[in-house]
Amino acid sequence: MKNFEETIEKLKKYDQTHIIKIMEKLTEEEKETLANQIEKLDFENLKNLYNELTKEEVNSEKVIEPISALKKNKLTEEQLEEIDALGKNIIASNQFAVATMSGGQGTRLGYSKPKGTFKIDVEPEPKYLFEIVCDTLKRANKLFDVTIPWYIMTSEENNDEIIEFFEEHNYFDYPKKDVMFFKQGQMPLINEQGKLLISENKVIKEASDGNGGIFKSMSISGCLADMEKRGVKWVFIGSIDNVLLKMVDTTLIGLAEERGVDIATKSILKNNPYERVGVICKKDGQVGVIEYSELSKKLAEAVDEDGDLVYGESHIMCNLFSINILKKLAEITLPYHKAHKKNSYLNENGELVVPEEPNSYKFETFIFDSFNYVDDIAILRGTREIDFAPVKNKEGVDSPETAKELYNNYWRNNKE
Ligand code: UD1
Repeated sequence: MKNFEETIEKLKKYDQTHIIKIMEKLTEEEKETLANQIEKLDFENLKNLYNELTKEEVNSEKVIEPISALKKNKLTEEQLEEIDALGKNIIASNQFAVATMSGGQGTRLGYSKPKGTFKIDVEPEPKYLFEIVCDTLKRANKLFDVTIPWYIMTSEENNDEIIEFFEEHNYFDYPKKDVMFFKQGQMPLINEQGKLLISENKVIKEASDGNGGIFKSMSISGCLADMEKRGVKWVFIGSIDNVLLKMVDTTLIGLAEERGVDIATKSILKNNPYERVGVICKKDGQVGVIEYSELSKKLAEAVDEDGDLVYGESHIMCNLFSINILKKLAEITLPYHKAHKKNSYLNENGELVVPEEPNSYKFETFIFDSFNYVDDIAILRGTREIDFAPVKNKEGVDSPETAKELYNNYWRNNKE
């Protein structure tokens, strides 16, 4: 029988002795599973995160300045043609891939299955969100006579369900060998005293590490190596919940090439000060995004002399990365953003506690924090009616109903 000496030492060193008490009540097999998990955890990182919990928000000490995007109509016809030609060449020579992030939970939508499996009642017939992304890729494949490799980020929780869904739907006729799934990482939850939570399954409770986890998990899963093997030079990374997302945009790709930058993003103008989108700005002189949850009311409401929002350049999760920067980002740990949440746990006596108030912290990294790791990025201004129809909430703004309207309007005016 193992005595779990190392595990116990580690738990003592990091002041997690409540887990030792719980371990005493576990079977050998349960202890073994827990010890394996503990062995892999980065306790030093968790200790630092706990110590930083009391500090102010990520953006608070930074100098924030507005930024504006490039508007297509500011380019001459010739310039635009040149940029588009660069983009077309990248796609047609198989140097372009797409990644879709679908590790999120869709809590706001009130849908318990993976968000991509949500069916939206668009014309002429209802489609799943995954199917809409797939159709965009198929149209591009036809146009450029290629097959764009498609990487889909799932989570520990929804991976199997997503793969089953694709199998059931025969990958919506996308070549199966060009669809790759990879799981995003997890981070343990800690309570207000920095203690790890033990779940009902007698393991340390973990949650997805946020969409910024994509860089590391792309590398760990071998997807990055697969891209390199295929000769991919640019990777578009987008969300699953925007039914108008233009993943294969020759202007965005061409602009990144022409500017010689490693990251390009498409923005749209913010609808109103309180729209739940991140805003692209400068933080300490570098391009970054402030998430809606972290933007102060004062900055959100600031207007210029024309009455336009000063911080109005929205991040719509429409981002392009060079393979070189993806490799670098895979080696970096992006800053963690904390979220105070309610989480049930087992107490030292092995009893389940269901809290009524937030009792613990979830740590997530955000994809757009990668912008801070390059000198400059290209920002292209898109158009709401063409580029952004998110499915976020069950009803009201950004709901299936509003997304359906925008989708139908777009496709009425843009026949294939
Ligand atoms: C996100 C952006 C916000 C942007 C808005 C546009 C972040 C942190 N916020 O906010 O700046 O204005 O979209 O619609 O990026 N996802 C994962 N794993 C996770 C969490 C999310 O794969 O752990 C995926 C989701 O499946 C989805 C995408 O990330 O495809 C965005 O989801 P979510 O973070 O819920 O979006 P918002 O909070 O609306």
